[in-house]
Amino acid sequence: MQLTGSRDELFSADIRTQIAVWLAKYPENQSQSALIPALHIVQDASGGWLSEATLDAVAVYLDLPKIAVYEVATFYGMFELSPVGKHKINVCTNISCQLNGSDKVVAQLTEKLGVGLGETTADGNITLKEVECMGACCGAPMLEVNRDYHEFLTPAKIDEILAGLK
Ligand code: FES
Repeated sequence: MQLTGSRDELFSADIRTQIAVWLAKYPENQSQSALIPALHIVQDASGGWLSEATLDAVAVYLDLPKIAVYEVATFYGMFELSPVGKHKINVCTNISCQLNGSDKVVAQLTEKLGVGLGETTADGNITLKEVECMGACCGAPMLEVNRDYHEFLTPAKIDEILAGLK
């Protein structure tokens, strides 16, 4: 994608201010160090996902080759490259969670939501994703809703979480 206009026109003043906080933490020629937080900021401001045009804009804004942005955005599961629901549930099915019943967690979630892993409810409210270890093995089984961790899941806790996602 060919971007036109000035660098400052790529993002709102609010986004530029947030990214500037991260850029200020690193030497001037090390904008790549601010890439992950910048992608989070832009994703949060873009309905929870990053379009190709948005990724290109991040590359221009941080003065990075497009590939440097794409390789990060496509590597980490926390970045979405297609539209997602208003809320995102990431359910961990890695070893500790698996040994502590993540299959039952997934079964309850898919049944209650009426969607499979990687899918979004028909009303666009919730996207359900399967993820690798979230570093909270001691609280297995666990899931993440948006940015909040929920650990030691039980059927009642899962129902409570879902009821809170309006
Ligand atoms: S295996 Fe699920 S958080 Fe580590």
